[in-house]
Amino acid sequence: MDASLIDLLDRGLAGAGPVVVLTGAGISAESGIPTFRGEDGYWTVGSAHYHPEDMATNAAFGRMPEEVWRWYLYRRSVCRAAEPNPAHRALVALEEALGDRFLLITQNVDGLHLRAGSSAARTYQIHGNIDFLRCGDEPSSLRPIPLAIGDAWTKDAPFTEEARALLSCCDGGRLARPHVLWFDEYYDEALFHWQSSLRAAGEASLLIVIGTSGSTNLPMQVGSIVARRGAPMIVINQDPSPFSRFAEESGAGWFARGRAGDHLPAMVEHLLERA
Ligand code: APR
Repeated sequence: MDASLIDLLDRGLAGAGPVVVLTGAGISAESGIPTFRGEDGYWTVGSAHYHPEDMATNAAFGRMPEEVWRWYLYRRSVCRAAEPNPAHRALVALEEALGDRFLLITQNVDGLHLRAGSSAARTYQIHGNIDFLRCGDEPSSLRPIPLAIGDAWTKDAPFTEEARALLSCCDGGRLARPHVLWFDEYYDEALFHWQSSLRAAGEASLLIVIGTSGSTNLPMQVGSIVARRGAPMIVINQDPSPFSRFAEESGAGWFARGRAGDHLPAMVEHLLERA
């Protein structure tokens, strides 16, 4: 690895604050899960085609809850058929070495970080998790989607009475909703670790950003806070992004252009040697 990158990693590790990792869809691309703005494709309802941004909304759920559930159960099936990859596993090893000095903030709802072995306590799933449901916005109602619903949902699988019964598990038999942050909703602390993520950005001694286009608010605030503090920031991404620009402008940044699986394991190996 380049000496400047090694210096940033060592400075970050030597700091008193947490080592914070921020991930997006790019870290799961090598597990075969389409990135959000990649070729995710349309969702067809009758003769209408919907973008993810149309389906992942409270408005769509209010209008066509069963169609929204079908879309999520299909995507959940895709996620559950995927396996964590070496980049997910490298972050598990880093957490095991650093313990409470480590924090993972992920935008991914695919659940692959937890399935790889990242701990729920140190993993802020700031956009939710496709394996979970809840009753409205009540955090205490958060729980896994019943396994009985199955994970072989295809794009054209009909919404069955059995699925409706399994998902109508809220007071008065109301239909639960997917535990995912929708485009017409807002971050909060109780469900999405909003303030905790900003506090971590204010204390981080190292930020590693992996596989995200910088299209969402809270991640961009995290990157901006760390860049303004001049704390070491390392960005691994296939394409330039607002985060790679933060890194290049901050004077304490490094942009590793390429695949997560090609860059992250070596960086983690170096950190493990020094931890
Ligand atoms: N390794 C590293 N980076 C990759 C890889 C890879 N193998 N494959 C793709 N990328 C990069 C792309 O270059 C892109 O910049 O990952 C980024 C993925 O960007 P998006 O698809 O926009 O996903 P993400 O940034 O996670 O989207 C954030 O937006 O729509 C909301 O809630 C949704 O969580 C999602 C959020």
